[in-house]
Amino acid sequence: MNTRTIKDLAPAEVRGKRALVRVDFNVPFDDAGGVGDDTRIRAAVPTIQALLKAGARVVLFSHLGRPKGKPDPKYTLAPVAPVLAALLGGKVPVKFVPHVVGAEAEAATKALKEGEVCLLENTRFEAGEEKNDEALAKGFAKLGDLFVNDAFGAAHRAHASTEGVTKHLRPAVAGLLMEKELDYLGGALEKPKRPFIAILGGSKISGKIDVIEALLPKVDGILIGGAMACTFYEAMGFETGESLVESDRVEMAADLIERAAFRLTLPHDAMVAPSIAEASEAHAVKRDAIPEDEAMLDIGPESAISYARAIASAKTIIWNGPMGVFETKPFDAGTMAVAKAMAAATAAGATTIIGGGDSAAAVEGAGLADKMSHVSTGGGASLEFLEGKVLPGVAALDQR
Ligand code: 3PG
Repeated sequence: MNTRTIKDLAPAEVRGKRALVRVDFNVPFDDAGGVGDDTRIRAAVPTIQALLKAGARVVLFSHLGRPKGKPDPKYTLAPVAPVLAALLGGKVPVKFVPHVVGAEAEAATKALKEGEVCLLENTRFEAGEEKNDEALAKGFAKLGDLFVNDAFGAAHRAHASTEGVTKHLRPAVAGLLMEKELDYLGGALEKPKRPFIAILGGSKISGKIDVIEALLPKVDGILIGGAMACTFYEAMGFETGESLVESDRVEMAADLIERAAFRLTLPHDAMVAPSIAEASEAHAVKRDAIPEDEAMLDIGPESAISYARAIASAKTIIWNGPMGVFETKPFDAGTMAVAKAMAAATAAGATTIIGGGDSAAAVEGAGLADKMSHVSTGGGASLEFLEGKVLPGVAALDQR
């Protein structure tokens, strides 16, 4: 796919025009009701700045949370406007418009002057958003003179604001964040520097099966971590104790082990404890020695060392999913070892890509995000992209 971006637009297509930009401002909030993590807002700034520089009137819209198709003050985007204004250097005011669509929203977009920005209310306050309702999509199309999709994190959703709107508003092009995400993730899949390895973690094999299948023919190796390793252990006939095992996926795991042969690596050892709450009792065991009354909560120290070595010898590394319960010490050790090894690999010239979600949170928490080649802003979207699926929000844009 060769998607057009804002860089391909002629100056006359932008100057003085209302650029309707779908951003992914689905950000976490802190207890005080403020933005808890501004990563996704920061990530949209280059596109907004480029459009402002080109003389556009910038209209931003996004979903936030899952408010079930009706207004809910808990999910208002209002607190995001001042955060964005600060990130734009305080020189560009960001007007919050408390409407999603309709006459007032339209009037607010028309009142914008060149070089001004407004942010509309949460798209999911409209029942038609997730249904990709045509009338809503037409309503969105009235809010701009061109459409820019910079919401990679929502590109796997065929919603009115990501897909439907493109049927009624052209040009429809990718923003700079969208372009960067597609370049990194697509580049790794299409022309990786080798060796190319993937590190896949998380609790459930069921959520990762499609990505394992899609990556197996492309990579030189897949390293498995997280509780999902235990479903493989079960298939290998090991005791898994109280660990999370998906019993309906054991057969599938056995089949994968056979087909993948040496390309699939499972942790040699595990950090176990009776429960997450009893972290003080954590200890390392070989993978065939998990006690009956304990659960695997992280990869073990030997595995952490061998995974770090594998990372050091690779040239392209994609990581999705933590190695253990990284929110609770000491079960963060495996995830931290992978994060540090990836940071070192980046410095040594490898291309390192973090596939959003929990692994992105772990890397950010460790202060290592800027040491990676790319940290995706999309959790579900990056996973679907790596699974080889077409993202509807991207397919709907102009192609070159
Ligand atoms: C995300 O946070 O992954 C995206 O913003 C998509 O959100 P959704 O899963 O609620 O559609």
